[in-house]
This record gives sequence, structure tokens and C-alpha cells, in this order.
Amino acid sequence: MIFVTRKATFSAAHRLYNPTFSDERNQAVFDKCNNPHGHGHNYTLEVTVKGLPDPLTGYVIDLKLLKDIIDEAVVDKVDHKHLNYDVDFLRGIIPTVENLCVVFWQQLEHRLPSGELHMIRLYESESNVADYLGAPVSIPRYELTTLPHTERLEA
Ligand code: NI
Repeated sequence: MIFVTRKATFSAAHRLYNPTFSDERNQAVFDKCNNPHGHGHNYTLEVTVKGLPDPLTGYVIDLKLLKDIIDEAVVDKVDHKHLNYDVDFLRGIIPTVENLCVVFWQQLEHRLPSGELHMIRLYESESNVADYLGAPVSIPRYELTTLPHTERLEA
């Protein structure tokens, strides 16, 4: 088995909070990451595909093709966006680096023309990184009751 990896980068904003928590509990659990108007990260995404090289091409998967799939399914949808509000497939999900890995996996796993998705690795910063290998996990989706910015502007 051979493992090939394609790397991509994107920048996005997010806020970590659970709408079922009180303000005090959100602050205690998420601290600075709970700041109401969000904050940004420069993310690095690594997508690893496993398989055997095609005897005719030598490829597990054409990495140019994998780049195009990652761009179309993930990067073009999240780059320069607010992950809590702007991305359909993230709606209601707490956008931790862990949860993002799982949702990105779901976006990618059925789009590969060859090989098999092996791992999603997502760096939220140089220090914080999550690896997901596809084990079944259920990510709750919460109702969003307010949009950002509006309350303060209308007050
Ligand atoms: Ni953050």
C-alpha cells in the first residue's frame, strides 16, 4: 500500500461556542475562542489517499486531480469565509479543528476517482493539529438562532 498526500491552505474565521450553553459557560469552556465576532486562522489541510499504483500511470491518484477535488469540495467553499455562517456543509457545527476534519472527510470521501481516503490532517496553527482516519463519529448540528453583528448594530 502506498500513501500519497496533497497539501492545501486556506484562511478562515470562526467562533467556538455552543448555542445551548449560557454566555458564562461558553466563556468558561471556549475562553478567547468564544469572542463574539470571531477570529481568524491560517489553516493547512493535508489529504492522504492510499492504494496501489496503477500499472499504466504509476499513480495511486493523479495528485493534480486530487488538488482540483480538494479545491472544489473544500477549499473554494471555506477560504476567506466565516465558518460559523458562510458554509452550507458546516452550518450549526462547532468549527473546532476536530469537527472540521470529520466534515471535510465527508466532503471528500466519495469524490476520489481512485485510491481510498486514508487521513485528513488539519493544522489550525503551527501548534494545533488534528488527524482523522475515518472512524464513525457523529457531529451534532445546533440550531443557529442569531446571525453575527446584527444585534450590536441594531441596538
Ligand atoms: Ni480559533
